[in-house]
Amino acid sequence: MTGTMMLLNTKGKTGKTAGSANAADAANVRFRAARREDGAAMWALVRSAGTLEVNSAYFYLLLASDFGHTCLLAERGKKLVGVVIGYRPPLDPEAAFVWQIGLAPEEQGKGLGQRLLGEWLNLPANRDARWLTATVALDNAASRRLFERFAVSCAVRCEQLEHFTADLFPHEHEAEQLFRIGPLDAAAREAIQRSISNSTSNIQPMGDIADMTVFEQYESEVRGYCRNFPAVFDTAKGAWMIDTEGRRYLDFFAGAGVLNYGHNPDRIKEALVEYLMRDGITHTLDMYSVAKQHFIEQFQQVILAPRGLNYKMQFPGPTGTNAVEAALKLARKVTGRERVVSFTNAFHGMTLGSLAVTGNGFKRAGAGVPLNHTVSVPFDGYMGEQVDTLDYLQAMLTDDGSGMDKPAAVIVETVQAEGGVNVACMQWLKRLREITEEHGVLLIVDDIQVGCGRTGKFFSFEEAGIVPDIVTLSKSLSGYGLPLALVLFKPELDQWAPGEHNGTFRGHCPAFITATAALSFWQNDWLSKAVQAKGRLATERLQKMLKNLGVKAEVRGRGLIIGVSFEDVAFAGQVSAACFERGMIIETAGINDEVLKLLPSLTISEEELSKGLDIIEQSIKATMKGDSLSAA
Ligand SMILES: Cc1ncc(COP(=O)(O)O)c(C=O)c1O
Repeated sequence: MTGTMMLLNTKGKTGKTAGSANAADAANVRFRAARREDGAAMWALVRSAGTLEVNSAYFYLLLASDFGHTCLLAERGKKLVGVVIGYRPPLDPEAAFVWQIGLAPEEQGKGLGQRLLGEWLNLPANRDARWLTATVALDNAASRRLFERFAVSCAVRCEQLEHFTADLFPHEHEAEQLFRIGPLDAAAREAIQRSISNSTSNIQPMGDIADMTVFEQYESEVRGYCRNFPAVFDTAKGAWMIDTEGRRYLDFFAGAGVLNYGHNPDRIKEALVEYLMRDGITHTLDMYSVAKQHFIEQFQQVILAPRGLNYKMQFPGPTGTNAVEAALKLARKVTGRERVVSFTNAFHGMTLGSLAVTGNGFKRAGAGVPLNHTVSVPFDGYMGEQVDTLDYLQAMLTDDGSGMDKPAAVIVETVQAEGGVNVACMQWLKRLREITEEHGVLLIVDDIQVGCGRTGKFFSFEEAGIVPDIVTLSKSLSGYGLPLALVLFKPELDQWAPGEHNGTFRGHCPAFITATAALSFWQNDWLSKAVQAKGRLATERLQKMLKNLGVKAEVRGRGLIIGVSFEDVAFAGQVSAACFERGMIIETAGINDEVLKLLPSLTISEEELSKGLDIIEQSIKATMKGDSLSAA
């Protein structure tokens, strides 16, 4: 092996490397880690250059087999146009070493060299590297410039150290210096992410799909999202998810509202890692723990007290449906009544009690038993804009001849997320509170998907100025994707007998740690304002885009949950698929999946948000034309 690092087709000092990025040209480049089958093509690329020191084809096969995970390929269509061959030096484990980097002649001067380095550092195997190292010959001006510029773009040092002096080589050879670029701390990594995401070359046509046989063979047919997003994900950061092929996806789904603060947010991760490293207790059932104590204190101090809310806290099992079940059970116990009122197109979970208050007929049918003790009434807007659907509820509750037994509770989502991003107006929510109060019926707000800041305020009902009797939270409560659920209720409703409602996983200590750290986002109103601003930006852009494209659709939402309801029912699914082909995860909602649902993390940058909107626009255009990248 040679320690020489040279650029393809750069004749020493005269070679061209990174110029300004030519976004249009870069648009169809796709990046991925190398596999055994790539060895021959890597060898051919290096050989065709004539300027890189070429080893045997056998050697590149070995490299691709054993170091494929630290080798990055850039392809335009089926053609290999760039390669970074690297490895993690065993004696310098914090470093990721670039041994060769090569560009096809036609790719020179377009910024692909810089891009390759950023993408290469983003490979799962290199994400923890604190230094990028490479040896560069003294006469290789092109490569020196490439690395120096890369260091500048990450705002880190580029040390140049004596390494292999000329006399160490058997034949005439310039001395090779060791370039040491870093430290690649969080800020540098962010800069790399930014530069990558600002390049349109991130919009990648679908290439080969990773091997999914194991899932198809052994995992139940019940699996769902993986069918729409066929990739095997390995790492994720902020608004980006990366699959095993090294392909990056802009995440406009955020784990169905679980990842409001993005993937692996540093300030939360640090708290978790510190807790794990000090052997903080993981499991306590519902015994007291320091982790729970801190969370309760912080939640009272940061969330409840400033809002004048006086709630007791119950930690049920860890998922949303556990919280809903506990809320329904408590409402029935306290009132001694059995019926619960829910709304058309509601979604509250998959266990029997939650399913009984869920609208979706397909999901309900899965119960296999009658779903009783509930009654569904029209949600805001269900009967058209002119009808105040609460007139119906009020009449049913008031008239003794209505046939509706007095219910224990009404359960409502202020924005029906799964149901199609149906937004209840503030007036409607206020009136719902008044009606329930008037009739002595408890009001449960299910804030599992649109709480924790999704609509701009921490609770989605704050803007309406109402105080529910019971509130359910889960999804983004832990802030990190760890399961945690919470039921809040007025103190007089706390009529549980000790242990009457229990469960093994009630309050997971690591989730308490991350949930406490996540509350730091709510110590001031920065995030709240940012959500509202980004929500406005996205809504206006979508409205303008649809108008310009002449697509019949309604844009609706609050904060950073935005739905685009297309008149053509099949359209949303096709756009979602086209977005996936362009490197973006976005799901559909509504009873017929007719709504494209934008649910990015609340911390997404404006640039990333705009980029996502660009992808949506391109995908709508492609869907209108009937184009598919994978078919192309
Ligand atoms: C409003 C609402 N309630 C309850 C649930 C159920 O939560 P889980 O899937 O964690 O049981 C969901 C899930 O999407 C939801 O959106």
